[in-house]
Amino acid sequence: MSGHAPPRILLFDSGVGGLSVAACIHHHLPSLEVVYLADNAGFPYGDKSETVVIDRTCGLISSALRLYPSDVIVVACNTASTVVLPHLRTMTSVPVVGVVPAIKPAAAKTQNRRIGLLATPATVRRPYLDRLIEEFASDCRVERIGHPELVRWAEELVSGGVVPLGELHAATKPFRDADVDTVVLGCTHYPLLLESLKQSLPSVRFWVDSGEAIARRVAWLLDQAKQPVVAHSEALEEGQFPVSAILFSGQAPKGIVSFMIGLGVAPKVVTEYWPDELRSATAIESV
Ligand code: DGL
Repeated sequence: MSGHAPPRILLFDSGVGGLSVAACIHHHLPSLEVVYLADNAGFPYGDKSETVVIDRTCGLISSALRLYPSDVIVVACNTASTVVLPHLRTMTSVPVVGVVPAIKPAAAKTQNRRIGLLATPATVRRPYLDRLIEEFASDCRVERIGHPELVRWAEELVSGGVVPLGELHAATKPFRDADVDTVVLGCTHYPLLLESLKQSLPSVRFWVDSGEAIARRVAWLLDQAKQPVVAHSEALEEGQFPVSAILFSGQAPKGIVSFMIGLGVAPKVVTEYWPDELRSATAIESV
């Protein structure tokens, strides 16, 4: 335990995708303190080797824990979670929650047994995914798209970028051809693109991501550790910040504070060039 009250969670992603998870956790568990750690200097993870992803994730998380002792670590990145969880669990005794594509809930929802899985190029290739499909959706046709650009389009939203709808429409054609009625957002960046995805795939009935399942798991772990979290309705008092700190391994994207305010997860402090240049970096304080 962090010895910190309220309970603190450390949330990690390669970029801003994990903010979709932060928003969901904050919605369900508003009394938690969230520290967000983004390896944006290593972004994107979808084209990196397993070794690079494991080394960067473990290195950054272990440094962050020294500065921000936490009660739960959430790896809010599917691409990292498919390879890094056993390594992290040997490195620290802090409970670790990972995120994997929500194939099981999708199989429970689909009516025509046709599921589209949208993930990064690395995630769609990983044996982990084959095992998930085999175990939970063996009676479904699962059409996979591992597109390299989607994560970038999501990142660009932060600085006012607009999703290129024509390219998105072309990228999602295999789902229309396969007539999927359910799409799994198998990358935490993709809930940030949901409105554009809905325009491109109007006949999809069910959109499934992992945010709520992660929030439930975090609440369960804290409960087990005798740190039950305050329920839904008891929001933060005025002047408190849902995210106490956001740490970027590189330069913070321009517009990050307003983007987070828009998601309902305003940060108190944004620190760039972390951890190497932490001491010389300027922490931007939100007002
Ligand atoms: N948000 C990460 C995920 O869930 C994006 C991976 C990347 O950096 O390519 O997979």
